[in-house]
Amino acid sequence: MENTTVSTHTYFDYVIYTFCKIMSHKLSVPLPNKASCPHVVQAPTVIAMVGLPARGKTYISKKLTRYLNWIGVSTKVFNVGEYRRAATNKYRSHDFFRPDNKEAQEIRTKCALLAMEDACKFLENGGEVGVVDATNTTRERRKMLVNMFTVEHQFKLFFVESICDDPEVVEANIKEVKVCSPDYKGMDTNEAVKDFMQRIEHYNETYEPLDWSHDRDLSFIQIFNQGERFLVNKLAGHLQSRVVYYLMNIHVLPRTIYLTRHGESMMNLQGRIGGDSDISERGQTYAEALKRFIEKENIPNLKVWTSQMKRTIQTAKFIEAPKEHWKALNEIDAGICEGMTYEEIQEKYPEDFALRDQDKFHYRYPSGESYQDLVARLEPVILELERQENVLVVCHQAVARCLLAYFQDKSAEDLPYLKVPLHTVIKLTPVAYGCRVELISLNIEAVNTHREKPKTVLANGSISTIEATTCSCFE
Ligand code: SIN
Repeated sequence: MENTTVSTHTYFDYVIYTFCKIMSHKLSVPLPNKASCPHVVQAPTVIAMVGLPARGKTYISKKLTRYLNWIGVSTKVFNVGEYRRAATNKYRSHDFFRPDNKEAQEIRTKCALLAMEDACKFLENGGEVGVVDATNTTRERRKMLVNMFTVEHQFKLFFVESICDDPEVVEANIKEVKVCSPDYKGMDTNEAVKDFMQRIEHYNETYEPLDWSHDRDLSFIQIFNQGERFLVNKLAGHLQSRVVYYLMNIHVLPRTIYLTRHGESMMNLQGRIGGDSDISERGQTYAEALKRFIEKENIPNLKVWTSQMKRTIQTAKFIEAPKEHWKALNEIDAGICEGMTYEEIQEKYPEDFALRDQDKFHYRYPSGESYQDLVARLEPVILELERQENVLVVCHQAVARCLLAYFQDKSAEDLPYLKVPLHTVIKLTPVAYGCRVELISLNIEAVNTHREKPKTVLANGSISTIEATTCSCFE
């Protein structure tokens, strides 16, 4: 017996999203850019990491940055270790990090200041969040951050401290990422691990964790043992709440996410967009092949998520696993263009046809959605995916592009052109600081619905995006 539930995930971001949508419909214009959306922070924010080496600070910095950029908040990481490597000659040994090494201390302070200054420049020039990825393990160093960011620049400052006292986790982290650092290039792995352990010891000698009795005026979250427990203090504003919510939902357990579009649909065959048609005969063959593929992968505790459209539900129907049908996974709403062929759209709405080519991410179908809207609609799906372990998501082309852009850290410009062919499974496996992406074709023919970003050759020979009024596909 199939375990089927309908998802009703909603929360306050939907209210914001709906507000954006209504306002922009009222004005009858597509949302031109993220600045028109009220979720954008008022004052720029600095997120400063805190913690001993090998506590996952870089992992958190990169992952959080990828998420914030995906939801449209312009974010950049400033890694102090990289500034140090650029400023000093080849790394020799842990001695560099001894608290009594005055010369090295000066270099380290200078590098921290350089990273902080660059973060300020980024935030003064349109950036919204700067992430200072450094140890920041002393009160003195944190005072420097408070002075520069909040006193001098009136930015908001939020500390994220990662505390881990499990020696196995620390050692695994060193072996997985630290020994591959440029600091240890060419060094024997065991030697590198030993040196890094000693480096941690030097930091430990002066480490002052955030502490409510000293730091009650600071905004911060402390993450204990990779999310076993959290302590949050003095959240200041919407962005920090969102960051905390995200950090409290991610986990580091090994798992795999499988992503696929529905099997070829009857409307795909007719070249019509949108609608809610059945899958074709070849789509049916894909549904059967998908069942066999999933069985072969032998995935423990697999969950299957589909949209609420017939074509995704039919594609997943042979798979024996608990299923959820998410409205949020439904295909982009093509508004007045729903069910039309490309030729019909081009003939009836030539201006819209051209506008979409100019800025496909922000273009909104009249009475429908844009890719930007879709990202907002999919945020709860991403949050829930982060909480889960093994999941197969059966969805649609535009939806799959948005999800893939999150995992692959793709820009808003590239997102609407990501290739997600029919009858192909995309396997996403977390690795070190990112995600391995494998495209597995199940070798069943299907129509091609991908359309490259239109290009034109300018008089000077350079290539540019055209303001196209004609093209063969309008997905
Ligand atoms: C490093 O130099 O690798 C780390 C700098 C820091 O302590 O933040």
